[in-house]
Amino acid sequence: MPELTPSQQAALKRSTTLQHQILQDPGTFRVLTGDRPTGPLHIGHYLGTLANRVRLQNLGVEVLVLIADYQVMTDRQAGRQLPATVRGVVADYLAAGIDPGRSAIFTHSAVPSLNELMLPFLSLVSDAELHRNPTVKAEIEASGKPPTGLMLTYPVHQAADILFCQANLVPVGLDQLPHLETTRLIARRFNERYAVESPLFPEPDALLTASSMLAGLDGKKMSKTSGNGIALQATEDHTAALIRRAPTDSERRITYDATGRPAVANLLDLLAATTSDNPRHLADEIGNAGAGQLKHLLTEAVNELLRPLRQRRADIVEATDYIDTVLDAGNARARDLADNTLTKVHDLLGMTYANRRTDSLFSPTRGADSSRPAGARSS
Ligand code: TRP
Repeated sequence: MPELTPSQQAALKRSTTLQHQILQDPGTFRVLTGDRPTGPLHIGHYLGTLANRVRLQNLGVEVLVLIADYQVMTDRQAGRQLPATVRGVVADYLAAGIDPGRSAIFTHSAVPSLNELMLPFLSLVSDAELHRNPTVKAEIEASGKPPTGLMLTYPVHQAADILFCQANLVPVGLDQLPHLETTRLIARRFNERYAVESPLFPEPDALLTASSMLAGLDGKKMSKTSGNGIALQATEDHTAALIRRAPTDSERRITYDATGRPAVANLLDLLAATTSDNPRHLADEIGNAGAGQLKHLLTEAVNELLRPLRQRRADIVEATDYIDTVLDAGNARARDLADNTLTKVHDLLGMTYANRRTDSLFSPTRGADSSRPAGARSS
């Protein structure tokens, strides 16, 4: 694991406290999490965040899962295959145990009021603050292109993702902490400026998990685009092939040495996370049996862990329309929450003249009501 900065350490400490509170009082938390739909979810997602989302859901925490399809526009390799990718991600969620009866799965593009929150939020951050965000800086560097306005402002969009439903808990990896700071800042400033009497937005907490820092098979950050993770939907043979190809080193005896032998340590970390064991203990057990045995054990462990999930996934994909039905329901739930929040924001901003009409004077489908003067409302 990398050295943590003081603010990362503080967030980790706070997460431990929160874990206790969640167990005691799950009903007081609302979780918002999300992924950019850049490709199939992999074992790093499962061990790092997905399993935790399912655990929270099963504890009775309300969970909303966002498929960040507007955010994916900032990606180096934005999905031309967006519909298939998004449906695939929904299948991954469901296979992992997200229960659409309890948790909502939704997309940015289906929730206009969420996106609209970005406008007032943009007024609450300065240009300099946007340029200071280290994760955005890293993204911009990695893209090798001049940053677009969307790239620069995407922590503000992410604030809308989190605050539209007044979420107070956001399970994230370390790289997302700066974004969460922006969300907290925006919540605080909005409340100070417009909602002093009764604050509208909570300042959400990050919930960090140790395994959200797992590296990919090649030791680099595990990511959908660099293909160094094991996709949840991969076959057992493909899984074996991917692990066979993972780099190790020429030393026969397996030891755990994160700095001296990063490639081997990385596979041990993955095996440890998959089997809930300790990487040093595993290294001792494997010892002179070498990298071949390490890879054999890892392949077995991953395939065994993912077998039931892969079976469920196959059934889900088989059921025509099921995925779209799940998304429709999640989108409707998210729209409800977002519309409600935006109405409150409009109220607080004094924008309460004519923008709450739900029917249109000009709508040909509303014949009976179209004689009402524009701006008249029934509520
Ligand atoms: N930025 C996140 C990522 O790159 C994805 C994301 C978008 C997200 N909106 C979010 C995560 C809101 C948590 C909360 O993985």
